[in-house]
Amino acid sequence: MVCQLFWVVVLLAITRVGEAKQNAGSLCNPSDLKGLIDFKAGIHVDTSGRLAKWVGHRCCYWEGIRCDNQTGRVTEIRLAGFISTNDFLFQSEMRGLLSPSITLLSTVGVIDLGGLVGLTGTIPPAIGSRLPKLRKLYLYGNMLSGPVPDSIGKLSKLEELHLHENRLSGSLPSSLGNLRNLNQLLLYSNQFTGLIPDSFTNLTNLMHLDLHGNALTGQLPVKIGEMQAMEKLDLSNNLLEGNIPLSLTNLNSISELYLDGNHLEGAIPFPSSSGQMSALGFLRLNDNHLTGRIPQNFGYLVSLQRVSLANNKLEGAIPSSLGSLSALTELYLNANLLSGQIPKSISQLSRLILLNISHNLIQGPLPSEFSSLENLQTLDFSFNRLKLVSFPKWLSEMPSLSKIYLAGCGIRGKIPEFLRATPSPIQELDLSANHLTGSLPAWLGSLTQLYSLNLSRNFLVSGIPDSVTNLQHLGVLDLNSNRLTGPISKVFEIGNAFPDGSLTYIDLSNNNFSGGVEQLGIGAQTGMQYLNLSHNFLIGRVPSSIGRLKSLQTLDLSYNKFGSKIPEALANVSSLERLKLQKNQFTGNIPVEFLKLKKLLELDLSDNFLVGEIPMGKPLSEFPESSYSGNKGLCGKPLAPCNS
Ligand SMILES: *[C@@H]1O[C@H](CO)[C@@H](O)[C@H](O)[C@H]1NC(C)=O
Ligand SMILES: *[C@@H]1O[C@H](CO)[C@@H](O)[C@H](O)[C@H]1NC(C)=O
Ligand SMILES: *[C@@H]1O[C@H](CO)[C@@H](O)[C@H](O)[C@H]1NC(C)=O
Ligand SMILES: *[C@@H]1O[C@H](CO)[C@@H](O)[C@H](O)[C@H]1NC(C)=O
Ligand SMILES: *[C@@H]1O[C@H](CO)[C@@H](O)[C@H](O)[C@H]1NC(C)=O
Ligand SMILES: *[C@@H]1O[C@H](CO)[C@@H](O)[C@H](O)[C@H]1NC(C)=O
Ligand SMILES: *[C@@H]1O[C@H](CO)[C@@H](O)[C@H](O)[C@H]1NC(C)=O
Repeated sequence: MVCQLFWVVVLLAITRVGEAKQNAGSLCNPSDLKGLIDFKAGIHVDTSGRLAKWVGHRCCYWEGIRCDNQTGRVTEIRLAGFISTNDFLFQSEMRGLLSPSITLLSTVGVIDLGGLVGLTGTIPPAIGSRLPKLRKLYLYGNMLSGPVPDSIGKLSKLEELHLHENRLSGSLPSSLGNLRNLNQLLLYSNQFTGLIPDSFTNLTNLMHLDLHGNALTGQLPVKIGEMQAMEKLDLSNNLLEGNIPLSLTNLNSISELYLDGNHLEGAIPFPSSSGQMSALGFLRLNDNHLTGRIPQNFGYLVSLQRVSLANNKLEGAIPSSLGSLSALTELYLNANLLSGQIPKSISQLSRLILLNISHNLIQGPLPSEFSSLENLQTLDFSFNRLKLVSFPKWLSEMPSLSKIYLAGCGIRGKIPEFLRATPSPIQELDLSANHLTGSLPAWLGSLTQLYSLNLSRNFLVSGIPDSVTNLQHLGVLDLNSNRLTGPISKVFEIGNAFPDGSLTYIDLSNNNFSGGVEQLGIGAQTGMQYLNLSHNFLIGRVPSSIGRLKSLQTLDLSYNKFGSKIPEALANVSSLERLKLQKNQFTGNIPVEFLKLKKLLELDLSDNFLVGEIPMGKPLSEFPESSYSGNKGLCGKPLAPCNS
């Protein structure tokens, strides 16, 4: 007791010393006090417990509040949701309405209410006229709605405006262009519409503009290049159209430029000469409608590290100047109309880690100089006009290559045995849609790092080798559309042997597999999302252990000879979205428990021997007749009513 009293005294003494040091008025300015009390009153949940300690009148000592030590007026409110101290990290939450009284704090320079998750309401319309000293406004990561008020353009001292990740809407006020001191304008992941105001080009001190993930329309301001301080510009995932303005080449400080996921068209206009945009390290122009050639001048962008031009309509040859981009680590040119051969100069990109040129019109042969790309880990040449005939042996000798995609490359013959012992163990292999013949080799089981294997759409004839049970990292196995035979049990033994394994996707469809599945350990592969066994000769009962595949979204057992009852345990797979059991010999009723499958989007039970009433209710009654047709004994909605 005495001891406790001692500590109280000490604490009081410390507090007093603190106050003296601050030398501020011990009472709060009445206007500041009202602003803060109203703010607190708007919040009904504060998981951080900070506001609960806001009692009395001396607001300068409240947690999160700072005052000017001369005037005693509030200068900063710092109540961000993410709390980080030397000892702990903590995501807190405040739920409630952002009080417009916050604008009573007329001397405040910093408002940080970012990442509180649950703040609702609007940005107070008067904010611009009431808070002339505001330098930093952080309201990101909440549920604020409504527009950005026009008055915001009066905050002439504003340097940082972070309003991203809210539900703000309307068009961007042109007055934002008056904020000459603005360095950072982050408005991404909201619902803004309309144009990017031309006035933005007056924001010549802006270093970071991020508007991605809105619904902005129209063209980019022609004079965008006047925003000369810009280092990072992200306008991705909007609805922007028209050409990329030539003036972009004036952005001499730009290091990150993201215009992907829009409707931009025309040619890539930059750079027009050497020295332009020389700091550009990260460039994404993918998923637009860009046309024309990749400019030969691209080689002037000497700082480029990661580039994506994928999913456009770029044509012509890949310029050999790309070979001078010595910092390049990732290059995505996939899904364009690029033609000609791959220039040998690409083999000079000694830092290259990933190269995707798939889905173009590139012709062979592949330059064997490529083998000097010693850091290349991932290579995708799928679906071009390469006509390789055989798998290039030098590829299997590249020191870092472990993810190889050569689908639709015209490769013939057997699966080459030299893939068995590559310098870097194979993790991903896609040789689908080729002309491979022969068997699935037993040595596949020695690829112990294998995560994904796609050999679909070939002419492989054999059973599944026992050794596959060694593939403990296997996640994706696609063997569809071959002529594979025998039982499929080995594949499920992978899941049994490694119950926490990564198996998520199995497609064995359209082969000649046979035998039953009742004895398989189906159910241990709890991460499985996709299972397709359709178009085979599988027979017998489907075991109820299948109900343990808790993550399953797609199950296709169609076009087999499965019989007996549909396991009602499937009703426990609540993630199921697609269930296809048509063209089998299932008997009995449709389990009434299937009414629990609320996520089911596609159902096909047609052409079986099912009987009885279709369980009434969502989602079963809502599927079309064709989901149930060809079962002579079924009745009830959507089929004809049952005669009872
Ligand atoms: C007020 O704060 C400033 C800056 O932190 C400091 O230099 C000054 O000494 C303080 N004045 C008083 C009276 O404590
Ligand atoms: C940029 O600022 C100048 C000077 O204040 C002004 O005259 C001009 O209209 C502004 N430009 C735009 C596009 O708003
Ligand atoms: C390469 O691009 C294609 C087509 O756009 C895509 O489907 C594929 O996943 C990419 N490959 C790699 C290895 O990223
Ligand atoms: C395997 O390759 C085929 C054709 O190349 C493709 O359609 C399929 O999506 C691939 N499978 C997986 C699991 O990616
Ligand atoms: C299963 O595989 C068959 C044949 O390869 C294919 O036609 C079908 O679309 C696949 N089912 C699902 C649901 O993806
Ligand atoms: C696969 O099944 C088809 C249809 O029954 C048959 O014509 C073909 O000979 C079988 N192929 C093999 C390799 O078993
Ligand atoms: C579904 O899961 C529950 C709880 O996990 C279990 O008791 C029940 O037996 C399962 N139903 C079927 C039909 O397997």
